[in-house]
Amino acid sequence: MALYDEIGHTYRRTRQPDPRIAAAIVHALGDVDSVVNIGAGSGSYEPPQTVVAVEPSRVMLGQRPPGSAPAAEAVAEALPLADDAVDAALAVLTVHHWSDVAAGIAEMRRVARRRAVFFTWWPERVADFWLLRDYLPAAAETDARLAVGLEELTRLLGDAELRPVPVPHDCIDGFAAAFWRRPEAYLDPEVRAGMSVFAKTDPTAVTDGLRRLEEDIRSGVWHRTHPDLLQQDALDVGYCTVSVDL
Ligand SMILES: C[S@@+](CC[C@H](N)C(=O)[O-])C[C@H]1O[C@@H](n2cnc3c(N)ncnc32)[C@H](O)[C@@H]1O
Repeated sequence: MALYDEIGHTYRRTRQPDPRIAAAIVHALGDVDSVVNIGAGSGSYEPPQTVVAVEPSRVMLGQRPPGSAPAAEAVAEALPLADDAVDAALAVLTVHHWSDVAAGIAEMRRVARRRAVFFTWWPERVADFWLLRDYLPAAAETDARLAVGLEELTRLLGDAELRPVPVPHDCIDGFAAAFWRRPEAYLDPEVRAGMSVFAKTDPTAVTDGLRRLEEDIRSGVWHRTHPDLLQQDALDVGYCTVSVDL
């Protein structure tokens, strides 16, 4: 069973596309006329030029809004498209789930004529995010094991352009670092259910770390420790677009 068939049931509730991140993705795509959206999930960040979405989880496919582009139940490593079928291949917050990143990138090159774009993160940078560093080192280890290093990604892509994408303080897409200025959100099981890093980390270590976080929020320790964060509107946590001309 695909992972998101287990953990994706509430995705659309906690993982709405954030317009500021959407703008960064649109910018990275440039003036392309047709797109395959790979690991499309429930359709977040899907640009209007999308001609087909590719997604292995039926639970995620079932949450695509009416009127979305046609979708195929398939994986990045074997895209159900002809050679040179589209201008661009897009992969948003998905490459860390692929079983064979090199095969997925070879497929993007095969089906796309002009551009490949990822929205992803630097695992080394995210490991320094306060939630993982101070409360959930086991989750940092999970991320280090599963995330795709940007060195590997850029080696496979060739001459890629990296652009940091700061996460707004009120980001409406509840991915792992989205609540950097709203620590209490991590105490909500439904919010955590939308973050795959929690599903893949030892639950005892998660419970223990979240108990400490809850105590630090209640006692005021968290707010006293992070006055700098409370002043910021957006934070560079290590998320970025990675794009390459093909
Ligand atoms: C965090 S979700 C991102 C979904 C969507 N792109 C978004 O930004 O909301 C990751 C998605 O990647 C999909 N996925 C997992 N393995 C995949 C693979 N090998 N090829 C393509 N997609 C995959 C999952 O089923 C899931 O829907």
